[in-house]
Amino acid sequence: MTQLHYYGHSCFQVIHNGVSLLFDPFFTNNPLNTANPKKIDCNFILVSHAHGDHLGDTLDIAQRSKAVVISTAEIANLCAQQGCSSHAMHLGGKHKFDFGSVRITPAFHGSGIPGGHACGFIVDFFGIVIYFAGDTGLFGDMELLGRLEKIDYALLPIGDNFTMGPEDAAEAAGMLKPRIVVPMHYNTWPLIAQSPEAFKSAVESRFKIPVQIVSPGTKLTLA
Ligand code: NI
Ligand code: MN
Repeated sequence: MTQLHYYGHSCFQVIHNGVSLLFDPFFTNNPLNTANPKKIDCNFILVSHAHGDHLGDTLDIAQRSKAVVISTAEIANLCAQQGCSSHAMHLGGKHKFDFGSVRITPAFHGSGIPGGHACGFIVDFFGIVIYFAGDTGLFGDMELLGRLEKIDYALLPIGDNFTMGPEDAAEAAGMLKPRIVVPMHYNTWPLIAQSPEAFKSAVESRFKIPVQIVSPGTKLTLA
């Protein structure tokens, strides 16, 4: 069984048979989170960019749990300098890991670190393909990503202001053609308040793709 835990904002953990990946581990100061980051263990941490609401608790968790940080080279190197294990990749690169594979996708957003670039991830996790878009605006090559990878779950930001809003995220779903869409990066603060229910009905009526709204602090069983 594979489970996807949501801690609010863009912080997810996917777990299968005791192997787990954390995406953008923003626990401390995340208004939606109720989990104690000191109790979070994982094998890999995937960091989309270095803004505080994404790099988050990466260094503390990686140092304590010995998790390997997977990110763009600039952020992987920053983590390595702080004593973390890391695996540097970059846009367009794909690599096999014991759990499956990771492809680094472009994300149209700031990197939060000099010289870097924000990214997203398409992860094959024990046969389930998850696209974690990171913070990004809408871009037409999402259609290409949908052709290159058969995406099961697309985790898309809908908060607007810093990233795609609900209308653009619905367009993204139409291009990516995932089996299921999960909204993220909304309702953390008033500036990114959105109705996930309105997003769900828009995507389901326009594209016939089911949207699963996951409440912070709950989990979804992936199949
Ligand atoms: Ni950001
Ligand atoms: Mn963000």
